[in-house]
Amino acid sequence: MMKKLFSRALFSYVLGIFVLLIVSGVILNQVVSNYVVLIAVLLTVYIVLLLMLLHVFDKYIKPIKKATKTVGKLVEGNYRARMHHPSYGSIGELSSRINQLARNLSELSIHEQMQSEQLATVFDNTVSGLVHIDQKGYIHLVNRKFLTMFGKKAKDYKGYLYYEVIPNEKIHETVQKAFLYEENVKESITHYKGIDKFYLEIVGAPIFNDRNMLKGAVLVIYDITEMKKLELTRKDFVANVSHELKTPITSIKGFSETLLDGAMDDEEARQKFIRIIYKESQRLQLLIEDLLTLSKLEKEEFQLNIVEVDVKQLLQDITPIMQSKAAKKNINVTINIDSDSTVKIDEDRVKQVILNLLDNAISYTPEDGNITLQVDEVRDQLHIRVSDTGIGIEQEALPRIFERFYRIDKARSRNTGGTGLGLAIAKHIVDVHDGKITVDSKVNEGTTFDVYLPKETAI
Ligand SMILES: Nc1ncnc2c1ncn2[C@@H]1O[C@H](COP(=O)(O)OP(=O)(O)OP(=O)(O)O)[C@@H](O)[C@H]1O
Ligand SMILES: [Mg+2]
Repeated sequence: MMKKLFSRALFSYVLGIFVLLIVSGVILNQVVSNYVVLIAVLLTVYIVLLLMLLHVFDKYIKPIKKATKTVGKLVEGNYRARMHHPSYGSIGELSSRINQLARNLSELSIHEQMQSEQLATVFDNTVSGLVHIDQKGYIHLVNRKFLTMFGKKAKDYKGYLYYEVIPNEKIHETVQKAFLYEENVKESITHYKGIDKFYLEIVGAPIFNDRNMLKGAVLVIYDITEMKKLELTRKDFVANVSHELKTPITSIKGFSETLLDGAMDDEEARQKFIRIIYKESQRLQLLIEDLLTLSKLEKEEFQLNIVEVDVKQLLQDITPIMQSKAAKKNINVTINIDSDSTVKIDEDRVKQVILNLLDNAISYTPEDGNITLQVDEVRDQLHIRVSDTGIGIEQEALPRIFERFYRIDKARSRNTGGTGLGLAIAKHIVDVHDGKITVDSKVNEGTTFDVYLPKETAI
């Protein structure tokens, strides 16, 4: 259109010049009789007019053409387009305003892009699953966490009705209630991914527009599995402690009542019952000591008492206690120490780990068995291995033996005086040393525990 206008103006301009030339030629013809002078004058006038035309073209028409082109690019979304034309006056003003507009548009678009990127980053990286559903029930957005929880790809959800692609009735109910009551609705569900069980808390939150009209809903899905597990562990722990305390207390109470009810006069019964009461109170004491140790180790402010210890010295203090216990069952204990170094560890705690492992080895190895305690160095770690030729542990039970109160055979373990806390304590101690404890076992062949501790434990 600009081109048309421009060519029309040019045409009228040239036509005007010709008309002017002819008219002035006719007038001059009357005045100037010499044709040469006449042509010279006309030519001069023509050249002057042509120069004027070129000037007008360069000063006004060309910049307007450029301005139109630049604005066209801006309309197409190319905010980097600028007018490069040195001009002054109104055209110069127009050009600088267009450039200013282009700069503003460019800044605005960068700002908008940054904001949407930030929003997308937050949406995608929140620790909760998020789903945006419109008022008709179509899914618009799902975030990465949601996809890790429920599987599939974003394209399998986007654009579909939520109840067709999210396979959980409780979630459907949550969305429906959020739409119906127009308020936040909270539900808890258990969700299976393969064989893994997850506990999820779902919040359906309705979204409103400026005029307070329902525009859809956002589903927020929190993974509360860890919290639930902790809660279950705490409940289990309380139940276990109560049970473990109840057993010896019931027995102490029962036998003392029997004694008070007359058994005291019978010498043999008295001896027997008092011995039981003594044994049970010893069990109680051990249990309470173990519980206190565990609770101390679990405290956040717990600090190891790191000292420099000679490895040989450390073991010399332990072995006599175990030798005598093993001798009662005629178990042979072999000790191999292949280390002349000193290590920086919490001496008392590490002794407790080795004692607990040796104690188990003796308890769970039948008479005439063999136990080996081997200590050496593996790179920058102290390696302690306790192996026995005892009853062994089934493969399924292996991952659980470090749990508190876990005993494979409760009845047999109770006979040995065990409470199921020994390995839990050992693992805790190894963990706070930044070490590692592993177990390998074969039923009826024996068990091997390996402990790796850094030779210099960081404080
Ligand atoms: N060397 C081993 N051989 C066979 N079973 C073992 C061995 N060490 C541990 N276990 C099994 O692991 C369970 C847990 O051991 P842990 O030391 O924690 O408890 P405990 O020995 O029963 O009681 P305590 O708290 O008095 O040590 C034991 O009950 C036993 O069933
Ligand atoms: Mg034990």
